[in-house]
Amino acid sequence: MPRIAFTVDGERREIDADADMPLLYALRGELALKGPKFGCGLAQCGACTVIVDGAATRSCVIPIAAVQDSEIRTLDRLGTAEHPHPVQAAFIAEEAAQCGYCTNGWIMTAVAGLERNPRPSDAEIRAMLAGLKCRCGAHMSMLRAVRRAADRMASAENADESTG
Ligand code: FES
Ligand code: FES
Repeated sequence: MPRIAFTVDGERREIDADADMPLLYALRGELALKGPKFGCGLAQCGACTVIVDGAATRSCVIPIAAVQDSEIRTLDRLGTAEHPHPVQAAFIAEEAAQCGYCTNGWIMTAVAGLERNPRPSDAEIRAMLAGLKCRCGAHMSMLRAVRRAADRMASAENADESTG
């Protein structure tokens, strides 16, 4: 059984696992993370999303061997209750969840998307989040939350530039 090494939320981790084990199983089963969720298991819903080397990635279908030496970020260490990430803060402000099962996917996809495109148009936000599913129909509030996060992050960046 090969040993796969990668970094998760800033910590080096090593797992002995079948090379084709889905990354999601390693994160939840071996490393006891709670952020990424099992939804469809078929790359169709986004509930399992993590950020791999900067890209939002559906961890239910990516084999663990494919993330050898990668940097993985999960919702588990994105922010804290005292210091939420701006995207988390925006979801709280917009009350953008019902059951919350899909929330991991929307937040992690938005975080990766806003890192790549910090000043998105509304159309670009929709494109960024396309393909994510929410069985509760909370789509509109989550779109508003990502718009809010993008605006807050851009104005914080402007403030930094004007004082720096
Ligand atoms: S559980 Fe991975 S996309 Fe649905
Ligand atoms: S809030 Fe329930 S699935 Fe999206």
